[in-house]
Amino acid sequence: MKDYERDYEDFTQRPDFEHGDEPPCNLSANPTFYDILDARLERRGFLAGGLATAVTAVFGASFAGRAEAAGGSLLGFDAIAVAEGDEIVVPEGYVARVLTPWGEPISGDMPAFRLDNTGAEQGHQVGQHHDGMHFFPIEGSSTDGLLVMNHEYIEPRFLHAAKYAGLELNSGAVVVENGQRDDDDVLKELNAHGVTVTRIAPNADGVWGVVADPHNRRVTGLTPMEIGGPVRGSAHVVTKYSPDGTRTRGTLNNCAHGVTPWGTYLTCEENWAGYFTNHDQEDQKPNLPREHARYGVRAGGMSRYGWELAASGADEYVRFDATKRGETAADDYRNEPNGFGWVVEIDPFDPSSTPVKRTHLGRFAHEGVVFANVEAGKPVVAYAGDDARFEYIYKFVSRQPYEPGVSDGSLLDEGTLYAAKFNDDGTGEWLALAPGRNGLTPANGFADLADILVNTRLAADHAGATKMDRPEWGAVDPNTGEVYFTLTNNTRRTQAQVDAANPRAGNQFGQIVRWRENRDDPTAHTFTWDLFVIAGDVNSSLDPNGQPLTADNIFACPDGLWFDADSRLWIQTDIGESAQNRGDLEPMGNNAMLAADPRTGEIRRFLTGPIGQEITGVVTTPDQRTMFINVQHPGATATAEEWAAGETRSRWPDGPGSIPRSATVVITRVDGGVIGA
Ligand code: FEO
Ligand code: CA
Ligand code: CA
Repeated sequence: MKDYERDYEDFTQRPDFEHGDEPPCNLSANPTFYDILDARLERRGFLAGGLATAVTAVFGASFAGRAEAAGGSLLGFDAIAVAEGDEIVVPEGYVARVLTPWGEPISGDMPAFRLDNTGAEQGHQVGQHHDGMHFFPIEGSSTDGLLVMNHEYIEPRFLHAAKYAGLELNSGAVVVENGQRDDDDVLKELNAHGVTVTRIAPNADGVWGVVADPHNRRVTGLTPMEIGGPVRGSAHVVTKYSPDGTRTRGTLNNCAHGVTPWGTYLTCEENWAGYFTNHDQEDQKPNLPREHARYGVRAGGMSRYGWELAASGADEYVRFDATKRGETAADDYRNEPNGFGWVVEIDPFDPSSTPVKRTHLGRFAHEGVVFANVEAGKPVVAYAGDDARFEYIYKFVSRQPYEPGVSDGSLLDEGTLYAAKFNDDGTGEWLALAPGRNGLTPANGFADLADILVNTRLAADHAGATKMDRPEWGAVDPNTGEVYFTLTNNTRRTQAQVDAANPRAGNQFGQIVRWRENRDDPTAHTFTWDLFVIAGDVNSSLDPNGQPLTADNIFACPDGLWFDADSRLWIQTDIGESAQNRGDLEPMGNNAMLAADPRTGEIRRFLTGPIGQEITGVVTTPDQRTMFINVQHPGATATAEEWAAGETRSRWPDGPGSIPRSATVVITRVDGGVIGA
């Protein structure tokens, strides 16, 4: 049964806490983004002019004249209104249909979705809580391809709906009896995490569905994986399972994703730390190593879902308890958390391939990864955000050049990782996180490259990177090379951290930052930056032209971000469950997706989702006439009391009496045209 004492002892489990968010762990003294923005405004003498004047000046600083340069608008649809209903709404002339909901069978003997599916059956079905996603066309087709998607986390009361019916459980709670968890429940939860690869195609009526195919595959929290890059074989990842530190099992909390220039899928491990607990103590106080503490591994108590409490005590479950129990690291799982926090490469076209953790991309709460426009014969460059309050934006530059048809994932194993510093004059610097650079020496506690990468956050602290408001997705304009990143919010930024020119203490709404690399060279060590939009309601926002957002485009908490081939920028929102349709976030309604034309600064609301969910994941077919987006965690706002009474707030997508299910949505135009145009 639910244990309120225990649940509320851990603040991350409280019903009013946003799902999966980590406690703020960055206690270093580096300047905040707002310190810098404020300094920039102050120096220019705009403080007296109020927010609109000041931020307009900042907007125009390095990207002036773009509206004049634009041709016709990239946006050809009429904006839709803010919505609070339990449905998907798209503009007139568009159609939205559900595809691949949680539980849809894809492999094995294709077990049909039931509320009491076993853990093994879940291993052959689409996972829960859909997130980042890509469509890999087969032979360039726009009607045949592999849909690959992440499953970020789970809602146990929905996952075990048959068993958990009538119990007073909040959206994250699991049942623990006599200090143990049911083994098959644990298996089902691990199998509902990870990645789904499934072939999809439309039928004769144009309705897309799953195609039974040898490519179809689930990668889960249990799948064996190689550790690649500089951390491979180091003492940091020696475990009982892998005494030589070359392998680990599973990928967890897969948020956004990336697509490599050589056509593989990258899945990113975001809020993985809470899945582990470590009871090590000294003098009756928690005594966690820095590579656990700096990321928020739990110091005692039960892990997020208590998998270490599985009744069988099986090895694949007890590893979530990282307490030292043996003589050496090869005798226990003290290093198991060090196998997480990475970007994982999966080849969707080879279902027998072993996923690889690409450790040179750094270890943090990886939201996603996005590549700069690639050129043959030049290094590949990838950008990534660490989504926690006051964390950093990173860039990786490969040592070897990209050679089309030759390069593979090993290109990501050698190069340089950098952290971003945003200077007060609108310039920025990339700070190398490498041995001997920026003070990262043994004398300062960084023994070698593997040590720096396992402790990426600490290395970035030491180098002096700029603390950001929760960096989420990045996107690179395919036509200009400019890089955009969403900064979703940071409600814990205090007034002391901002000044009078900046009204964003307790930033509830978020903003989108963009930069241009020096000489338009993605490998450059410096860049110029600007703000694209400051999100909020009509009184607290500024659009790309320095005007307040309007009823057609107010939004908050930008998260998903993606450029289509025409440079239309798609913006997806993730207002946390505790804030949706309440207080200052009430005017934004349910989470939504908007489209922007970066050349003109226009933004229009394109889609609104059902109750309790976030919109995340977006891609089109190569012809841009079919778009896929994901709806994650509908119904998550239902309270424990409502669940006990059989109420779920949302019944999307299956309707009355059903359990809500995360699902993909396929969007097409009635006239068959390009989406958004
Ligand atoms: Fe999983 Fe940062 O969103
Ligand atoms: Ca996200
Ligand atoms: Ca988010």
